Amino acid sequence: MSEPSNTPDPSQDTPPTFIYGATRDWPGYFESVAGKPARETLLDALDRFADEKPTDAIDLGCGEGRDTQELLERGWNVLAIDGSQVGVDKLLARPGLQGHPNLTTRVSVFEELGNLPTVRLLNASFSIPFCTPEHFDAFWNTITDAIEPGGRFSGQLFGDRDSWASIPDRSHQTIDEAKALFEGFELEMFDEEERDKQDYQGIVKRWHVFHIVARKHG
Ligand SMILES: C[S@@+](CC[C@H](N)C(=O)[O-])C[C@H]1O[C@@H](n2cnc3c(N)ncnc32)[C@H](O)[C@@H]1O
Repeated sequence: MSEPSNTPDPSQDTPPTFIYGATRDWPGYFESVAGKPARETLLDALDRFADEKPTDAIDLGCGEGRDTQELLERGWNVLAIDGSQVGVDKLLARPGLQGHPNLTTRVSVFEELGNLPTVRLLNASFSIPFCTPEHFDAFWNTITDAIEPGGRFSGQLFGDRDSWASIPDRSHQTIDEAKALFEGFELEMFDEEERDKQDYQGIVKRWHVFHIVARKHG
C-alpha cells in the first residue's frame, strides 16, 4: 500500500468518484462513472457460469446500469434495483434498455426491500455498505435467501479500516465478519484491497474493500 501524501495531485483536476459516495451524492456519482465498463467481480462470476444457460439475475444497487447492461448483453433476465430514481432513469436511458424484454427495474431502498425473487446470480457492486447498520442483518438475509442453491453472489463489502467505516449510516465488516457472512457458500474469490487514494483537494481516503464471488452450496 502506498503512503498517503498531503500534497494535492495537480494532475487530478476533477473530483475522483469516491467523493460522491462519502456524501451519498448519487447523481454526481452517476455522472462521474458514465461510460465505465462492468465490474470485475461480475465478470468473474459470469465466467464461472460459462457452461450454463443464462437465467435470472438481480443487480442490487444497480446505479446507472454498468453491470445490468453487461448481464442483458449476455442473455440474463435482470431485475435491477436501486434506491435512486435518477440512477434507474439513467439506466433506462442506455441504448436499447427502455422496454428491454429481459429487464425489470425497481426503485427501492435496501431498508424496505421486502422479499426478493430467487435467482441464479445476485450481483451487488459497491452498494451493500450503504445499507444502514440497523437494517443490515435483515438485508443480508434477504440477499442470501434470494440466491438459489448452486447460485452465486458477486460484489463488494467494505472493511473496518476503510475511511468511511466511521460514518454512522454505513455497514462495514472486519475480514472475519465478512467471511462469516458467507457461511453456506464457497468463496470462489475473496480479494482484500487496502490502499490510500488522494482526492483533488489532497484529502486521503483509505479504501478497504473485499471483492467477492461466492457460490451457495447446492
Ligand atoms: C457506489 S454506487 C454503485 C453503483 C453501481 N452498482 C456501480 O457499481 O457503479 C452505490 C449505489 O447504491 C445505491 N444505494 C445507496 N444506498 C442505498 C440504499 N439504502 N438503498 C438502495 N440503494 C442504495 C445508490 O443509489 C448507488 O446507485
